[in-house]
Amino acid sequence: MKKLLLAIIVIILAVPAYLFASGKIGLSSVSMILNVMTGSGIESPSLQTVKGRLQLPAGFSISLYASDVPNARFITMTQNRDLLITRPHMGEVLLIAADKSHSNRSGERTTLLANLNRPSGIVVHKGWLYIGESDAVGRVMFDESTGKIQGDYHRIITGLTDDGNHPYKNIGIGPDEKLYLAQGSTCNVCIETDTRRGAMSRFNLDGSDEQIVATGLRNTMDFAWAPWNGELFATDNGRDMLGDDYPPCEFNHIKQGQFYGWPYFNGNNRIDPDFNEAPAELASNPVAPAHEFKAHNAPLGMSFIDGASLPDEYNKMALVALHGSWNRSTPDGYEVVSLHWQDGKITRKDFLTGFEQDGDIIGRPVDVTQDSEGAIYISDDYAGAIYRVAYGEPQQVLQPVITGQTNTEQTAFELVQPEWLTEQNINALISQGEKLYETLGCLSCHQNAANNSKLNLMNLHQRLQYEDVIHKLTNPTAPMPTFPLGKSDKQALASFLMDRATRYEH
Ligand code: HEC
Repeated sequence: MKKLLLAIIVIILAVPAYLFASGKIGLSSVSMILNVMTGSGIESPSLQTVKGRLQLPAGFSISLYASDVPNARFITMTQNRDLLITRPHMGEVLLIAADKSHSNRSGERTTLLANLNRPSGIVVHKGWLYIGESDAVGRVMFDESTGKIQGDYHRIITGLTDDGNHPYKNIGIGPDEKLYLAQGSTCNVCIETDTRRGAMSRFNLDGSDEQIVATGLRNTMDFAWAPWNGELFATDNGRDMLGDDYPPCEFNHIKQGQFYGWPYFNGNNRIDPDFNEAPAELASNPVAPAHEFKAHNAPLGMSFIDGASLPDEYNKMALVALHGSWNRSTPDGYEVVSLHWQDGKITRKDFLTGFEQDGDIIGRPVDVTQDSEGAIYISDDYAGAIYRVAYGEPQQVLQPVITGQTNTEQTAFELVQPEWLTEQNINALISQGEKLYETLGCLSCHQNAANNSKLNLMNLHQRLQYEDVIHKLTNPTAPMPTFPLGKSDKQALASFLMDRATRYEH
């Protein structure tokens, strides 16, 4: 046992040491790799860091939905807005309930399943919760309305191999009511003895009747069916040790019986230098990626997004989490990108960026899911965090403008008008707020507070959004008392304070 432990420690230290010594990576990457390999990660960022660093397209806002969830990997959302998370290192599935009174924060946590073997893929389907363990797929009855499991967890597919490099198993249920399973390769490049590694297969929902769907997939970490035509797409990680910029990671359009290249071909079907030629039956028809990501970007989780509550450009869109490179001389990836299907082409745009800045890494996105109200959730196994991204929720919309003059760096926020504030009601809200402000005695503490940054409400608009003010009134920090205020009272106070602050801005 001791020898095994020692061997593991030696390997853990040897890989980053080798990459560092050979100049493949920098020092910051060494500590990142150590954190990743030992599964320790870093502490979750503060809300301030999230707001200040992470960038989204106009109209989207971000909040730190849950922190302190080390090793948060694949996620799925129930109809009831319970978030289910696999944590392979802990061998568990965690349920994080929604906080019913604050859409942008999470509530209670429950361990739904424990003692699993490196759980990764997770699907809720028709009263069952399915889990991809490293050596099995199991399921348990699950009631989405209560968030509770019933009865025992049963392994319905067993005997999967989980040796080598890519032991995690990822699952999905297709429009054909079949259970799909992707099994990563054991190695960087090799010919597998277990032909189901580096391939995707399909089963009945009870685990019976296995069929191979596609082969030549090095490490497909997630896949999903386009809601507009039911076609299957999958992420795939390209091989290592051919330099910083080759080969690309892949986004594949999966079709029954097709071969996707690995280990003989990379990217757009270029023959791999370790082989130089492929067996005749495979050489004739490898399928090229539907879209290429940059080398080592490590696309992991993906999700097609329901664009009903989004602008037109987000129709026919998927989000893909790029976990980021670990063996590239300068880090790359570390973002969530959007893929857009238009005129028979897939184009890519940045969606959530800023996890990596000049080599400083604050997070690594793993998976993406969406709730019934349209909000998007992103897991981060490095910072142990879940982020929530929503469209048209003004409180967190953030366009940080770094003014960085002299020695004080300031982050200015663009104040966004909330939906409940209209031209029709603004004046009534302001005067109602002014009255409340006087009658409730807010002035007793907030007057003459020009030098105290928290008490000085005259520059409130430089640090808080309307919804933040409402939040402060709902959950005040002592010694500020909790006032018995209704929703419209809080909106009135927020309107008055913001109006006053912006009006007297000098
Ligand atoms: C007993 C003193 C007291 C009273 C009364 C009081 N506050 Fe406060 N308030 C504070 C203190 C102290 C803070 C700073 C708390 C902190 O450290 O975050 C604060 C913070 C705030 C903030 C957040 C400011 C920021 O930048 O974080 C808002 C908004 C606010 N108060 C509004 C009100 C309103 C509106 C009322 C009246 C309904 C009120 N306060 C009454 C003491 C008071």
